[in-house]
Amino acid sequence: MLRKQIHTGWLVAAMVAFSSGGALAADTVRVGLIMTMTGQQTAVGKQVVAAARLYMQQHGDTIAGKKIELIVKDDAGIADNTKRLAQELIVNEKVAFLAGMGLTPLAFAVAPLATEARVPLIDMVAAASVITEKSPYIVRVSFTLPQHAVAIADWAAKNGSKRAVTLVTDYAPGVDAETFFKVRFTEASGTIIDSIRVPLMAPDFAPFLQRAQDAAPDTLFVFIPAGKAGAFSRQFVERGLNKASIKLIGVPDITDDDELNGMGDHIIGTVTSGNYSAAHPSPMNKAYVEAFKKANDGLRPNFISLGGYDGMHVIYEALNKTKGSTAGDALINAMKGMAWESPRGPISIDPDTRDIVQNIYIRRVEKVNGELYNIEFMSYDQMKDPGKLAKK
Ligand code: PHB
Repeated sequence: MLRKQIHTGWLVAAMVAFSSGGALAADTVRVGLIMTMTGQQTAVGKQVVAAARLYMQQHGDTIAGKKIELIVKDDAGIADNTKRLAQELIVNEKVAFLAGMGLTPLAFAVAPLATEARVPLIDMVAAASVITEKSPYIVRVSFTLPQHAVAIADWAAKNGSKRAVTLVTDYAPGVDAETFFKVRFTEASGTIIDSIRVPLMAPDFAPFLQRAQDAAPDTLFVFIPAGKAGAFSRQFVERGLNKASIKLIGVPDITDDDELNGMGDHIIGTVTSGNYSAAHPSPMNKAYVEAFKKANDGLRPNFISLGGYDGMHVIYEALNKTKGSTAGDALINAMKGMAWESPRGPISIDPDTRDIVQNIYIRRVEKVNGELYNIEFMSYDQMKDPGKLAKK
C-alpha cells in the first residue's frame, strides 16, 4: 500500500515536471517498444523488432489520420531497466502504447505502470498465464505456456508416451509448463517420474541432462525460453540421449525456427507443439516469410516474431476503431474480441481475459528442400489459455 502511494506520487510529480516538454504533435501516436536487444535474449528482441518494422513497412505509418512513431528501447532483459524505460516512455515521450516484454519478469515489472498511467501494454512475448491478470491494460498477442504444454501433453499421451520427465526453466512460465504438462499427461494415464528445473540465467545443461538420463523415462518434455532452448536440444541429441530411447518433446522454443537449421539432422523427428511454424502452409505466411527474409538478410521468422507483427496489428486496428483517439480505456475496449488472420493462422483476443486465442499445432521436424522445418500435422483449434480456464 505504502509502496503504491510513493509510486503514484512519483508518477504525478514527474508528469507535472515534464508536462511542458515532450513536444508531440497532436497527429503523432508514439509506441514504446521495449525489447531485449542484448544479452541472453538478443535473438528474441531481433525477431520482434524486425517483425514490427515489417508490419509498418507493409501497412504504412499512418492510421486514422495519425502518424505512428515506433520508439525501440533495449532493456537487456533486466527488469529494473524495463521499468525505468517504461516510466521514461510514459512521462517523457508520452507514448500511447507500451509494447514488447521479452521475458515474464519484465512484464510483471511494467504492469503496475500501465495501470497507473492507463496506457495499453501489448505483451508481444512474455508467456506466463497470469500476466494478463496483472493489469486491465495488458493485451497479449504471443502465447501462453499452458496452451503449448497442454497440447503436447495430450498428443504425447495418445502417442505412446507413458513415463515422462519434465525439464523446465525455473521461473513463472516454466512452472506453468511443468504444471499444465503434468495435469494433462496424468489425466491421460501417463506418469511423471521426475520434474527438473534449471536456472534462467547462464544455465549449464550437462548435470540436468545427466539427471534426466538417469531417470530413464520414455519421454523428456522440455521448456527453456527461446534464445537458449536451441543449445539445450543440441546438447540433448549430441549426447545421444535420443538414441537412449528417450523421446524429446516440448514447446516451440526447443525447435525454434531461428536456430533449427543449425541443430543438425539429429533433431529430425522431434515433435513439439507451437503456435507458429515458418512452414505454416498459408499464402499469407508464405508472403510473410519471404518479406521477412528479404528485409533481414535471409533471417527466418520464428514463433516469437509473430508477437511483433500481430502486436502492431492490434495497435493499428485499435486506433482505427477509436478513430485515432488514444484514450487508454477506449483502446483496450477496441482490442477486446478483435479477430484477424495472422501468418500463424486465425487468431483473436479473448474479450474476457485480453489473452490470445489461437490454433496450437503439433509439428515434427523434417528436412524439406535441404532445410529443417517444423511441419504441422495436427491442430488444437482456437485454444484459449488453459491457465485461465483452470481457475474458473
Ligand atoms: C517468458 O519469459 O515468458 C518467455 C520468454 C520466451 C519464450 C517463452 C516464454 O520463448
